[in-house]
Amino acid sequence: MKKQKIAVLTGAGVSAESGISTFRDANGLWDNYNVEDVATLEGWNRNPALVLDFYNQRRRQLATVKPNAAHLAIASLEDNYDVTVITQNIDNLHERAGSTRIIHLHGELTKVRPENRYNERNGFSEDMVFDIGYGDINLGDTSVDGIQLRPHIVWFGEAVPKIEQAIDVVEAADILLIVGTSLQVYPAAGLYAYAKASTPIYIIDPKDVPVRDGRITHIKSVATVGMEKFIEIISKKDE
Ligand code: OAD
Repeated sequence: MKKQKIAVLTGAGVSAESGISTFRDANGLWDNYNVEDVATLEGWNRNPALVLDFYNQRRRQLATVKPNAAHLAIASLEDNYDVTVITQNIDNLHERAGSTRIIHLHGELTKVRPENRYNERNGFSEDMVFDIGYGDINLGDTSVDGIQLRPHIVWFGEAVPKIEQAIDVVEAADILLIVGTSLQVYPAAGLYAYAKASTPIYIIDPKDVPVRDGRITHIKSVATVGMEKFIEIISKKDE
């Protein structure tokens, strides 16, 4: 029998139990840093050293944390379902948990590319992007043709090149699972609206969800516990 398709949209909450701070919870990253300084092209043009330092810290931390039971449970869905993970996270915990099909909507911490100073709204091609693992990037670190490297991250105001691919995945899904996102940042927050009318939507989040839609079942738990409940629900439906 053909496997059912599950699209999984994740946000910072799925990595919270691994010890990575979310953005908008109390004492989250955006309480401690100014978004305009570290997550916009204008911030980069004003003070690239500050931006590099912010992502260097995130990258160093990533080297010290591990996927949690929620990442592992999402990966294990592949045993029985055709799964694509669409993540807003720039960490690599879904990869390290074993998920094989992952769309990184907001870029990846372990990748860099040459900047295109003052002249980009994400104008780059994928072949300019390369892996640097967990090492730092500093001012003066350049590509072979001498251009300063920048984090391969989608900043506010920049285009989200993978959104079309993500929309296709959500449109094709038989089940949509959303884990640990405040659904405040577009276009990712609008993705659920592309699910078919017949597609059930499960949202795992310990807080109330900001969207109303008859298709939504809210599993009001942290990601690790919520994933156990989700798997129980869908396994019963398959019996
Ligand atoms: P947020 O910090 O906005 O939201 C995190 C969500 O996770 C909230 O709804 C929390 O209630 C929930 N949460 C907290 N702990 C949890 C846990 N243990 N298990 C499950 N859920 C938990 O993070 P995102 O929605 O991912 O973009 O933020 C979206 C984007 O805004 C990020 O990708 C980033 C940020 O600015 C860029 O930097 C471009």
